[in-house]
Amino acid sequence: MNNAERSKLKMEDISIEFPGVKALSHVNFELESGKIYGLVGANGAGKSTLMKILGGVYTHYAGKIYLDGKEINIKSPRDAKELGIEVVYQEVDTALVPYLDVAENIMLNTIVNKMDKKQFVGWNVIHEVARKTLQTLGVDINTHTLVEKLSLAQKQLILIARAIVQKTRFLILDEPTAPLSNTEIKELFRIVKDLSTNQNVGVVFISHRLPEVFEICEKITVMRDGKVVAEKDIEKVDMKQLVELMLGRKFSENYPKRKVNIGGKKLEIKNFEDTKSRIKITNLTVHRGEIVGIAGLAGAGKTEFCKSIFGVFPLRSGEIYINGKRIYNTSPSQAVKNGFALIPEERRKEGIWINESVVTNLTATSLSKFARILSIVNVSLERVCARDIIKKLSIKTPDEYQKAAYLSGGNQQKIVIGKWLIPNADIYIFDEPTKGVDIGAKHEIFEIIGQLAEMGKGIIYASCEFPEILGISDRIYVMYNGQIVKELETEKTSEEEILYYATGGK
Ligand SMILES: Nc1ncnc2c1ncn2[C@@H]1O[C@H](COP(=O)(O)OP(=O)(O)OP(=O)(O)O)[C@@H](O)[C@H]1O
Ligand SMILES: [Mg+2]
Repeated sequence: MNNAERSKLKMEDISIEFPGVKALSHVNFELESGKIYGLVGANGAGKSTLMKILGGVYTHYAGKIYLDGKEINIKSPRDAKELGIEVVYQEVDTALVPYLDVAENIMLNTIVNKMDKKQFVGWNVIHEVARKTLQTLGVDINTHTLVEKLSLAQKQLILIARAIVQKTRFLILDEPTAPLSNTEIKELFRIVKDLSTNQNVGVVFISHRLPEVFEICEKITVMRDGKVVAEKDIEKVDMKQLVELMLGRKFSENYPKRKVNIGGKKLEIKNFEDTKSRIKITNLTVHRGEIVGIAGLAGAGKTEFCKSIFGVFPLRSGEIYINGKRIYNTSPSQAVKNGFALIPEERRKEGIWINESVVTNLTATSLSKFARILSIVNVSLERVCARDIIKKLSIKTPDEYQKAAYLSGGNQQKIVIGKWLIPNADIYIFDEPTKGVDIGAKHEIFEIIGQLAEMGKGIIYASCEFPEILGISDRIYVMYNGQIVKELETEKTSEEEILYYATGGK
């Protein structure tokens, strides 16, 4: 591809404010078609906001945008699409229409356009094009499947398919890899590289997983507090520098050292079987003060398992004991009464009330606690607790009354984690808690989990990030195909060994 054919998109001196928040100030960002750009920064740095301006979501910004030297006005998502700019947003589930099928979602723009112009929609063609697009992506999903039936990873691929169905010059991927498995990530990277080299698409790739950024990006832009703080060629920067630029301080990624005496059996699960979610756990124990890792690749059944013991799926058979006493988690609220807390994986969907304030979200699970003390909800106590969590997790919000919907993706995640830290549970189940949170916050989450263990709680930590599991846990169960296939002592095992069992090794 020679330079003459390249398209250039330039954002100049962009600033934007929301009530109480200066989200971007004087940002310059430039990209050319045919190249892959990394965009990194801590939660709330302004990455998504900058990209939403390109996508036509926010129009009240100051500054100018140029396409090939000509000033352009992006006033709506449709304007953006017509200019060849496609954004795959972080909030995957809000971008898709759950009750439409795969083909309809991929071809949504075409369908809407045709309907607008009162043209005939040829459904066979719609399905044919959708199928071909999925095929080029190497994705095997039936185009007649309803989108609500798909996994997060599949939804992500549908959005990418939707993006490439059009003539796309610039493709923006806002944290696309967060819900994907390693194989799916490899596949996505293959697709992205192909789009950039062979189809001259300019790609912006946002991720909190820095190794990924080093793997596929040529250039990298670092944002902090609404500003661009660095722009580098990828070979001129290393991971450590990048993290320090993002956080604005020195940082060493050590796992917190804990001084815990692991006590007696706190939680015991026996002969647990859930035919519906195909989970089968013969025996699992968690001791007082122990952090037990559940390691498994995406799709191994970790989430189903976490949900099952939390009573989301009715328990088919099996026994749960706490401190030797049999309990029945027949529903999530019963599980909470029994001393369980679950920090779910799909936080936006399951963990947050998007239209409520930060304080309401943070204190929702412990309302009964506030109510019990004073027989009415003690508003000031509520606020104090909320402020404490906001500080502990450095949740970026103007104040505790901000609507959760207005927080950045990673900060919403922190709220869901935070809200379970207020109630005094016995067993904490973390399902991929670090997904989508920046490296600084990740560290704070590890600290908090460590503190919970020191308080004598039992912790289940499910993740596909094996280095994290190795860093934080005392003991590890490896899951494969819905079952625990191996129990390992953290001190005596390695990433390779975990991977061996997690991929079905015997
Ligand atoms: N619609 C909105 N109303 C109010 N504040 C907003 C809105 N959108 C974004 N913000 C604020 O602007 C700042 C930047 O948010 P943005 O979503 O761009 O961050 P981000 O870099 O994408 O973070 P993350 O890594 O967590 O996704 C945050 O403080 C956020 O709370
Ligand atoms: Mg974001």
